[in-house]
Amino acid sequence: TRKLVLLISGRGSNLQSILRACQSGQIADTEIVCVISNRAGAPGLALAKQAGIPTEIIAHRNYASRADFDAALRRSIDAYHPDLVVLAGFMRQLTTPFVTHYLGRLVNIHPSLLPAFPGLHTHARALEQGVCWHGATVHYVTPELDAGPIIVQAAVPVFPDDDPARLAARVLEAEHQIYPRALAAILSGHCRLEADRVHWSAPFPVLANT
Ligand code: GAR
Repeated sequence: TRKLVLLISGRGSNLQSILRACQSGQIADTEIVCVISNRAGAPGLALAKQAGIPTEIIAHRNYASRADFDAALRRSIDAYHPDLVVLAGFMRQLTTPFVTHYLGRLVNIHPSLLPAFPGLHTHARALEQGVCWHGATVHYVTPELDAGPIIVQAAVPVFPDDDPARLAARVLEAEHQIYPRALAAILSGHCRLEADRVHWSAPFPVLANT
C-alpha cells in the first residue's frame, strides 16, 4: 500500500476528493496516513478525523523561523515514510532545504493556470485582468513559489457576471477532478519528475466532460 501525507491549512475539500479517490480505488492501493495542518482550526482536520486518519497540528506561529517550522514538519512527515507528500490548500511557503528533500515526491495544486497568477488572490486577479479562461494547475514543488514543472491543468471559462467566489467555486470543481487523477498517475509510475521535466509513460486519463 502506498502512503500519502497531506498538508492542509483550511477547508479540506481537496483532501476530501483525494480521500474519496483512495476509498473508491480511483487511486489504487493507497492510503492517507496522516493529515498535517499548520492551523489548529482548519476544518479539514475534522474531515480527516471522521475518516479515522491520524492528524497533526504543527502551528507555524510556534516556531521562530521558517527553517525551524520546516524542520519540524519534515520530522513529522518522515516518521510516516510517505511515497508522496501532497499540498492540499497548504498556505505556507516552504524553504529550499525542505523542498529539495522531497524533490519529485512533493506536489501542489494551485488555483490558476500557471504561470499566470502565482501567489494569493488568484480569482480576484484573474477577474481584474479580464481573462476569459482561468483554472487550476497540479505541479511538482520546486523552491521557487508556484513555478515547478506542471503535471496537469484544467481550464474553466470566466463569465461576465462572475465574482471571485463564483469563479473560485468553478475552479474548485476542476481541482477535484484533476488532483486525484494526477496523484493516481504519479503513484502508478505513469508520471514522474526527471531532472526538471515531467515525464509521462502513459497518457493522462481523459476527463469526463460533465
Ligand atoms: C484550493 O483552491 C487550492 O487550490 C488553494 O487553496 C484552496 C484550498 O481549498 N491552494 C492555494 O492557494 C495554494 N497556494 P481546500 O482546503 O478546500 O482544498
